[in-house]
Amino acid sequence: MQCRHCNNTAVIVNDFGSMPVANAFRNESDEDSFRYNLTTSFCDSCKLFQINDNPEVTQMFHNSYPFFTSTSKVMVNHFSEFFQEFKPDSSTDSFIVEIGSNDGSLLAQAKNDGFHHLGVDPSGNVVERAKNRGINAICEFFTEKLAKDIKTEHGMAKRIFAANVICHIPDLHDLARGIKELLATDGLFVFEEPYLGSMLEKVSYDQIYDEHIYIFSGISVQSVFAEYGLQLIDLQEQSTHGGSMRYVIAHEGFYTPSGEMLNILDREKEQGLNKIETYLEFANKCEKRKSELSELLSGLAKNGKRIAGYGATSKSTTILNYCNIGNDIIEYFCDTTPEKQGKLTPGSHIPVISRADAQERLPDYFILFAWNHAEEIMRFESESMPSNVAWISIIPKIEIVPR
Ligand code: TYD
Repeated sequence: MQCRHCNNTAVIVNDFGSMPVANAFRNESDEDSFRYNLTTSFCDSCKLFQINDNPEVTQMFHNSYPFFTSTSKVMVNHFSEFFQEFKPDSSTDSFIVEIGSNDGSLLAQAKNDGFHHLGVDPSGNVVERAKNRGINAICEFFTEKLAKDIKTEHGMAKRIFAANVICHIPDLHDLARGIKELLATDGLFVFEEPYLGSMLEKVSYDQIYDEHIYIFSGISVQSVFAEYGLQLIDLQEQSTHGGSMRYVIAHEGFYTPSGEMLNILDREKEQGLNKIETYLEFANKCEKRKSELSELLSGLAKNGKRIAGYGATSKSTTILNYCNIGNDIIEYFCDTTPEKQGKLTPGSHIPVISRADAQERLPDYFILFAWNHAEEIMRFESESMPSNVAWISIIPKIEIVPR
């Protein structure tokens, strides 16, 4: 297998089989959607953990992209703190860019603080939502060419932010050239993504789906950007998305790397993030999780128990299709996103309904697929969910949660 980034040999890790696009929620009457083979590999040269095939980016990001950052209050607060921590000292002459600005949850802060800013996002519907809030945003993929155009029109950026986006970009060479071009001499490129170390620790293989072309570590990010004279200067662990890492990048030699970053890089080596054996062990654990979940659910279904899903996440598409779980086992999903309600889950064809509709037909068990929002959901559900409904946890382990 050839590494999609450096063209050296990459070793195949997982084979999750045939998959639909993770966010391709469909109407009952729609044709069955496009499928591709979801496999992963690890490259011993550049240390990138990656998926081997992906649908065209335009199949994943388009005018009816069903994800809006503002559906989670916790995430909105998180982005507000993210911006406040990294915003430049003065708003005069400080241009801020966000790659993958979605509905403008982060840039709303830049706007309120009077910064000249620009959001870049390829999904028209989310860009419209941001513009309606008075945020400057354009509907484009971030490329080196676009970076040059932005620089010509707005000048260089003191900050380039991105959250849960950089792992979506197949061509990291083009991205790094774009950052090099647009970032001011003393500027910072700060991005955060689901973290490979957490994924391996929790066996959260549901982080692997079409949009996550790479799952990054400090080691791999350092290697990718170093090639373009950009230096990793800090790493900050985040609890969001079930375990994320914030990467801080600057022009080489401008800032001194933090001690915490060096500690995390050492820890990654201890954890074996630089070795193929670690990944092969992970693949075995994924297979084990698959059998455990299938056994638990088919046992409950055989006993006439009604099971529903909570949170129709992109992540759940990998679990449902890999573990062959369909509408014979899961009766429905409840989800707060209006764009997903009334539709069927990709590949598994399970209806998605609102939380209010679910109240009228509560199951015996709710599987918490939106496990990354567990705290927020449990805070709400501790008051709303009757005690005869039990929760099933799937990450970090499969269990019926004792009440
Ligand atoms: P997300 O965290 O973005 O996961 P992914 O990246 O895998 O799609 O999605 C969370 C989903 O869960 C989203 O569809 C909204 C839904 N959700 C609820 O239904 N209730 C809630 O309280 C929260 C926080 C999210």
